[in-house]
Amino acid sequence: MTYRIAVLVGSLRRESLNRQLAAALAKLAPQSLELVPVRIDDLPPYDQDDDGHPAEPVRRMKTEIAAAQGVLFVTPEYNRSVPGVLKNAIDHGSRPYGQSVWSGKPAAVAGISVGTIGTAAAQQHLRTILAYLDMPTLGQPEVFLQDKPGFFTADGIGPDDTQQFLQKFMERFADWVKHHADRVANR
Ligand code: FNR
Repeated sequence: MTYRIAVLVGSLRRESLNRQLAAALAKLAPQSLELVPVRIDDLPPYDQDDDGHPAEPVRRMKTEIAAAQGVLFVTPEYNRSVPGVLKNAIDHGSRPYGQSVWSGKPAAVAGISVGTIGTAAAQQHLRTILAYLDMPTLGQPEVFLQDKPGFFTADGIGPDDTQQFLQKFMERFADWVKHHADRVANR
């Protein structure tokens, strides 16, 4: 069985470290996971007045999330929190009230920063949001990464031990997604 995982990257920057990390994670994922990037750069600022007639990019994003069995968030930290573009995407997916596409979807969180705490503060805020949205989120391992020269190579992650750690993270996430898919199937 293959599980489709929607991947949201919290940076719009072309050379984004977090986009590179998301690409590396897709390569390290076990075969049971298919990682599908979801665009968030074309979403308008969330406006509750538009709940009844959402823009096409909003409908597209929500369809893509609904079709996934799990969600992977790979995000930078902006001013000790989640970047606005990611929060905007999350808000869009959570509405109209009672029709959230996030509800019940198993999630995992990862991030890379130039700073030493490796997006830990942003991830803590994100976990609070995901708990409210009723998304069971993988607790361990926590993926707090700091960019260093040689971290990324042409084919992925440079340091072998980090590569192995991230592979283990994706294996744990695959187990997590399967566990929740089985739980839903056996209801
Ligand atoms: C940052 N950066 C940053 N880093 C960090 O560790 N903690 C922080 O709170 C912030 N705050 C912050 C705010 C804003 C507006 C920007 C643009 C940047 C630095 C950040 O880690 C760095 O720019 C990363 O390269 C951003 O991730 P991407 O775009 O490379 O994925």
